[in-house]
Amino acid sequence: MIEKLQMDSLFAQARQAAEMAYAPYSKFRVGAALLCEDGSIVTGVNVENRSFGLSICAERNAAATAVTMGKQKFEALAISTPDSKKPVGPCGACRQVLSEFMQPDAPVRFAGSGPDQVDSTIGDLLPWDSLYELKG
Ligand code: THU
Repeated sequence: MIEKLQMDSLFAQARQAAEMAYAPYSKFRVGAALLCEDGSIVTGVNVENRSFGLSICAERNAAATAVTMGKQKFEALAISTPDSKKPVGPCGACRQVLSEFMQPDAPVRFAGSGPDQVDSTIGDLLPWDSLYELKG
């Protein structure tokens, strides 16, 4: 079970990571923090490009970094979008990619700069995952 304090701390790291985002085009910084099975935390930021379609989301960058470090199971995810007041959830592509490495009940928290935060799970964010049975 992930405790509230752990999610608070995970979110704080996502918020801190967002400062490193490279988002000169959208001016919409995103920071993501993954709690890995071994207790370590891996962060990622969005990295944009002047060829807009090549931009990479913070969540997928965090996942790719974690896998590169040999971590393939994520217990929780936090996403910070400090340039929006309201919480902004992960995009559809990121939901699919993250579900590869997370159990459906793994908690996901996201919040902007305002007081609202959303606490969900990867399963709730990607319901009726038709490929679930193919998962390793
Ligand atoms: N972005 C993310 O990093 N994660 C999401 O889940 C939504 C969108 C980034 C992509 C782009 O750099 C900027 O936010 C605006 O779409």
